[in-house]
Amino acid sequence: ARQPTPDDRFAFGLWTVGWTGVDPFGAATRPALDPWEYAERLAEIGAWGISFHDNDVFPFDAAEAEKDERVARLRKAADRAGLVIEMVTTNTFTHPVFKDGGLTANDRSVRRFALRKVLRAVDLAAAAGATTFVMWGGREGGEYDGSKDVYAAMERYREGLDTVAGYIKSEGHDLRIALEPKPNEPRGDIFLPTVGHALALIAELEHGDIVGVNPETGHEQMAGLNYTHALGQALWSGKLFHIDLNGQRGLKYDQDLVFGHGDLMSAFFTVDLLENGFPGHPDAPRYTGARHFDYKPSRTEYMDGVWASAKACMATYLLLAEKARAFRADPRVREALEYAGVTELATPTLGAGETVHDLLAGDDGFDAGRAAERDLGFVRLQQLAVEHLIG
Ligand code: GCO
Ligand code: MN
Ligand code: MN
Ligand code: MN
Repeated sequence: ARQPTPDDRFAFGLWTVGWTGVDPFGAATRPALDPWEYAERLAEIGAWGISFHDNDVFPFDAAEAEKDERVARLRKAADRAGLVIEMVTTNTFTHPVFKDGGLTANDRSVRRFALRKVLRAVDLAAAAGATTFVMWGGREGGEYDGSKDVYAAMERYREGLDTVAGYIKSEGHDLRIALEPKPNEPRGDIFLPTVGHALALIAELEHGDIVGVNPETGHEQMAGLNYTHALGQALWSGKLFHIDLNGQRGLKYDQDLVFGHGDLMSAFFTVDLLENGFPGHPDAPRYTGARHFDYKPSRTEYMDGVWASAKACMATYLLLAEKARAFRADPRVREALEYAGVTELATPTLGAGETVHDLLAGDDGFDAGRAAERDLGFVRLQQLAVEHLIG
């Protein structure tokens, strides 16, 4: 693949390349660098942007002066490297105080503390020039059904989100919230387990106009769901504010593999949607934000492997983008899309001005037996995708 450039808008969380390999069974397998060192290296390999949690830059218990000093140092490094700080988020999961969640913790004093921490991170995001504020409620949820009043938890989630979104508006920040769904891990069951659940909560918010979603490839796949469909529905809802691209192989722990190192066929159609849009709807909303990777360099890798894996995320994306462009331009694919009725789905079911009574009045001479005999050619279409992918 060609070298990535800032025009590709690739971005990485500092916690991705910054993961030292600590897992529930083992200690770190490599050293931690300072946040500005990761920023410099990411710029060198062709990234356009970075993102971070508050506590990727300063410790949980840092004094104000230390926070300011470390954030300023990171911002200076990003500026010097020509990197955009595109997204900021809050860590409401590492410290034991969040063991039962932040915004939905049973303990009200914890909820008030969490909300203050999130609001401070909002100000940090705005000051850093970020345009997206991700909220991943990794500790919101439980292991035991008896431990949560789910009605109250949804009320508190709504209260918390509306408080944060209302604050963004009242402060005049140019910032949108993106909720990140995940079905489980670290909690046994996390609230807002899928993109659909998140969209349903957003629909109940007073300030939902500035709240959307940040779907992560592996998180939908951990629930056995189709990531590209999640992106598609979020786009249709006007709610695809941000994305976390990575790889996952099946229904197991959150692998956070390199993009494309999980379900490659699915990754192909993800890139096809992001780069080429909906096949039957050229005017539909398109995703124009960061191509943001949220992956973990496997703990078998040392520092060379960290940078190789970050490059791999971008290289895979660029290769798939090339393949997806060729796929769409292939006359055989256009013909197969037509044959399959993919473009026909864009035609409204009722005619212009047609009423339900008009519809009920006749049967269009429809023959169910004949219609059932239609060959859709979906397999041929899929095989063309496979041939573009591996050809
Ligand atoms: C995960 C999540 C997290 C969040 C990140 C932002 O892999 O479980 O993706 O990495 O994206 O912490 O808050
Ligand atoms: Mn993940
Ligand atoms: Mn993520
Ligand atoms: Mn992650």
